[in-house]
Amino acid sequence: MNAPAVPSHQAIRERIATLPRLDIALKNTPLEEARNLTRELGGPRIFVKRDDLTGVALGGNKLRNLEFRLAYAMTEEPDTVIVGLDLQSNSARQTVGACNKLGLKTILVLEGRKPNNVQGNLLVDYLLGAEVHFAATQSEQRLLLESLADDVRAQGGRPHILNDNPMFDVASAVAYLEMTLEVLEQLAQRELKPNYFYMSSSGKGSAGIILAQKLIGGFAMHAVCATDEFDLPRRTAGIARKTIEALGLDLTIEEDEVVNTEAFVGRGYGLPSDAGDEAVRLFARTEGIILDPIYTGKAAAGMVAHIREGRFAQDDVIVFVHTGGTPAIFTWNELWH
Ligand SMILES: Cc1ncc(COP(=O)(O)O)c(C=O)c1O
Repeated sequence: MNAPAVPSHQAIRERIATLPRLDIALKNTPLEEARNLTRELGGPRIFVKRDDLTGVALGGNKLRNLEFRLAYAMTEEPDTVIVGLDLQSNSARQTVGACNKLGLKTILVLEGRKPNNVQGNLLVDYLLGAEVHFAATQSEQRLLLESLADDVRAQGGRPHILNDNPMFDVASAVAYLEMTLEVLEQLAQRELKPNYFYMSSSGKGSAGIILAQKLIGGFAMHAVCATDEFDLPRRTAGIARKTIEALGLDLTIEEDEVVNTEAFVGRGYGLPSDAGDEAVRLFARTEGIILDPIYTGKAAAGMVAHIREGRFAQDDVIVFVHTGGTPAIFTWNELWH
């Protein structure tokens, strides 16, 4: 039996183009070779995909996702987007920035208490003009989302609760399937192919890279998770399957095909770790690239640890996807001086 044909990038892009989409992010972000980092680690070639440079409100991975999430939201013609997220959420910051571009009001319901010192993503949320509410628990957050939506309706407005958007997870996977195509094309211009991808992901973005891996082949996806609250193989395969369905792809995915480690979470989600902080300093001091201590620093710590263990050959090509999150360096300012 013949092996199934590898679909062209054009064919995959045509599938993606069947989904409603807005133009919000700066895409085709640079792919930068980190030669000093390679020298410092005595390891393989490392390329950094600069998805911290996606433009709106200091950039990051969510802007790509929001192109699909908000396109779906716009079919309901809302005037207000309401979303419940974490206190220092990068997603919240990028959502407010994207909604500003679309002329929509954003109401954030953040889990946690307003800190005395407003810093990082929360500071940018205020600067962007979001209406910010705080909820002590997730159940309180859910109730507040509903009651704020009722208030908007009572005033004649049209709210959209982004947490209930059916594209929420699939949007991220589609976006990172497309990002993988960009990387493959950028490497092809240098007559190179990737061997490994590393990225901070809880299963949404990484599902997209796994789909690219299955469709095109030739590389492995190593996700590093910033939290240990999920059954990652199950969650990632579930999101990948929903994405396969949304795109009408002829593909299957099994849980044992998912590689995502929780080994670099450290003390817990949202808290810096020694290995992550070391990786943040390493990228800053060798390449002038600013990571963050909560997501990208931990993902980089995973990649660095695997390089130090000698897992790769000198001529292997690793792509490290910088998913943004940079404002967290200001929240955790005492770590750096
Ligand atoms: C900087 C950063 N990197 C990575 C992630 C993980 O993204 P996902 O789980 O959607 O792949 C997030 C999302 O919370 C993030 O803010």
